[in-house]
Amino acid sequence: MMVELQVNGAPLRGEVDAGMPLLWFLRDVGGLRGSKFGCGAGLCGACTVHIDGAAARACQVPVGALRGQQVSTIEGLAAQALEHPLLRSWERHQVAQCGYCQTGQIMSAAALLAQGRPISEADVIAAMEGNLCRCGSYLRIRRAVLDAAA
Ligand code: FES
Repeated sequence: MMVELQVNGAPLRGEVDAGMPLLWFLRDVGGLRGSKFGCGAGLCGACTVHIDGAAARACQVPVGALRGQQVSTIEGLAAQALEHPLLRSWERHQVAQCGYCQTGQIMSAAALLAQGRPISEADVIAAMEGNLCRCGSYLRIRRAVLDAAA
């Protein structure tokens, strides 16, 4: 089927199977490779994107199920470069180690911050608990999110 999505504010079209996971549509059709494949089972968060502003696991969403929703990826966030408070904070706290999970971590954190309300440490822990980091940089991730929210 012909799929057309709005990704980072621009149309992205491709002739694909309706069951194709959004992650592969973004990566293979759109060339947007910032969202990573980790587990493919919705368990690690490496593929996290935003669908209508909410964090979502792109490996678990078939493109055929999307109709008119706005999809945002780390590339959309990165277009704001170091103007985005999370990206500045990430750099300040030197969060990344191997870096593989970082785009998913940042997208989950961005969805939390976009709620526009005061954020507690418990909020950060709850919002980020589905994003795994094999390097164990959870403390720096938490500090960076809280710093960006301050
Ligand atoms: Fe999607 Fe792990 S690759 S949650």
